[in-house]
Amino acid sequence: MRRVLGLLFLGVAMAHAAMRFPTLGAQLALNGHGSIRACADCHGSQGQGLPHFAYPKLAGLGFRYLFGALQSFADGRRLNGIMTPIARALTMQEMRAVATYYASFRPRPPRPVPSTDRFRLARGRRYYQHGDMNDRLIACARCHGRRGHGMGARFPWVAGQTEAYVKEQLRSFRAGARRGPGLGLMRDAARPLDARQIDDIALYVSVLGVRPPLSIPVESVAVPPIVPRRSFVPPRRNAIPHSVFGGAVRRGRAIFDHTARYAQPYVGNALSCSDCHLGEGREAEAGPMWAAAGLFPRSYQGHVTTLAARIQAAFIHSENGRAPPLNGPVLTDLLAYVHWMSRGEVIGAHAPGRGYPPIAEPKHGADAARGASLYVQRCAVCHGARGEGARYHGRVVFPPVWGSLSFGRRASLARTTVMAAFLKSTMPYTDPGTLTSGAAYDLAAFLEARPRPP
Ligand code: HEC
Ligand code: HEC
Ligand code: HEC
Ligand code: HEC
Repeated sequence: MRRVLGLLFLGVAMAHAAMRFPTLGAQLALNGHGSIRACADCHGSQGQGLPHFAYPKLAGLGFRYLFGALQSFADGRRLNGIMTPIARALTMQEMRAVATYYASFRPRPPRPVPSTDRFRLARGRRYYQHGDMNDRLIACARCHGRRGHGMGARFPWVAGQTEAYVKEQLRSFRAGARRGPGLGLMRDAARPLDARQIDDIALYVSVLGVRPPLSIPVESVAVPPIVPRRSFVPPRRNAIPHSVFGGAVRRGRAIFDHTARYAQPYVGNALSCSDCHLGEGREAEAGPMWAAAGLFPRSYQGHVTTLAARIQAAFIHSENGRAPPLNGPVLTDLLAYVHWMSRGEVIGAHAPGRGYPPIAEPKHGADAARGASLYVQRCAVCHGARGEGARYHGRVVFPPVWGSLSFGRRASLARTTVMAAFLKSTMPYTDPGTLTSGAAYDLAAFLEARPRPP
């Protein structure tokens, strides 16, 4: 019976894989041996997991983590009715081999979430990305990364892990039942979670973006080269001075991040500056403020314009509101924030990482109809079928992308070329960089044709 099921699961693709990778790791993973059952029966031939059974994805976890997990099952630090006996039956050499095998696969994209789950997803995102200081919940992103790709060998990849498995692990960390090699960090991180938070976070983690699988044979897996960071690194958030100036910087940051809340008289929609200038205006290639400060004053359409005037224009068009007065508190605080963040950056130069890297328009032009169907597939889960975004407890978690609460027709983002560049560099939020240039233009054409303020 098991053989028949196994064959059903694994199919022809696996037989091919077995022939292409005749290593010990592949043998164990695909066929098992003696009393050891094929790992692929439960984890899939490429580590894709079995979503409905809380059988985790192994793809993406990396060699060190996989090897460490097998060791902790074997030595009893982590107990599980299924895995403990399997790990105990493996020799060190076999553990290494099978960990190497699974470390060579990247996870597959998750299945789309029904839009009825959008609010759960919004809550999950908030906890994952920002934590909740009232509940003493640390943002998961601090340790697992904003995209869930983990960090080093110690903080595992969680993006796209199966929902049922994440739920089970969070419960087991919270109860102190799972004690891995991870210094008890997860126990502390999971302690404040209640059942509903666990459900919401697990859903969000399960759809966090993953890239398409690497189709590289196991033997030739190489460590990817480290691309040196060329762009400016702004000062750390906790380096804001405790002074009168520092107070203005802090207020400026709050306005930048929660614009409608702290600059209410000048805002006519639901957008914050940081919805388009990502990471509080710090992120390279996502409209960073540190690259803007040194470019002003500069000539613009036959006259000279200043940073203050540029920010006023952002309020009028991007915020669909009106200009805060020069020398008033809102503009002063925002200028202080931008100036503080830009200290050490060169004046007058075009900084690498400025704006959103432009992309060429595809030869076939942009197709709004194709954009519409892409939007449903890749964007509506967060931004809503009608572009309305989502709120949680009154706070915007996913900003509206069209309609009366979005940006105006004359905003920079309303230009197709700028929108395409923005999307290519930043969206989908959990998996940026995965849209082709053609798709970015199609989406931009679709968004341009939607209703929005004048
Ligand atoms: C009968 C199903 C089954 C088989 C066969 C199986 N596993 Fe597992 N595996 C599981 C389950 C269930 C878990 C989750 C255990 C837990 O909740 O702690 C797991 C967890 C793991 C983990 C930890 C994953 C993580 O994200 O921390 C690793 C690594 C692993 N298995 C490797 C293997 C290897 C290698 C084999 C083959 C030698 C194998 N498994 C065979 C069911 C199975
Ligand atoms: C302070 C750092 C830290 C924070 C915050 C944190 N984690 Fe972890 N997480 C870890 C470490 C370290 C491990 C590895 C634990 C081990 O193997 O013992 C881990 C493991 C996990 C695993 C198991 C992965 C697997 O493949 O079995 C999941 C799932 C997970 N974390 C999800 C989360 C979620 C969701 C949050 C937010 C609620 C979170 N973590 C917050 C450090 C952290
Ligand atoms: C709807 C999206 C959106 C919102 C909201 C938004 N901006 Fe922008 N902003 C843009 C785009 C797009 C550009 C053009 C970037 C380029 O030219 O590459 C831009 C440009 C700028 C620039 C010039 C940057 C440069 O490198 O030349 C500044 C300064 C700026 N915005 C500040 C703000 C401030 C402050 C707010 C909040 C009050 C804000 N923006 C709100 C999208 C937005
Ligand atoms: C996982 C949720 C998620 C997905 C999927 C997603 N976005 Fe976003 N999007 C966000 C968030 C969150 C922001 C605000 C950025 C921030 O606050 O850091 C944003 C900002 C934006 C903005 C600028 C602000 C605004 O409201 O106009 C546009 C435009 C946008 N997204 C379009 C898209 C498009 C098109 C797609 C599909 C390719 C997409 N997004 C997919 C979460 C998402």
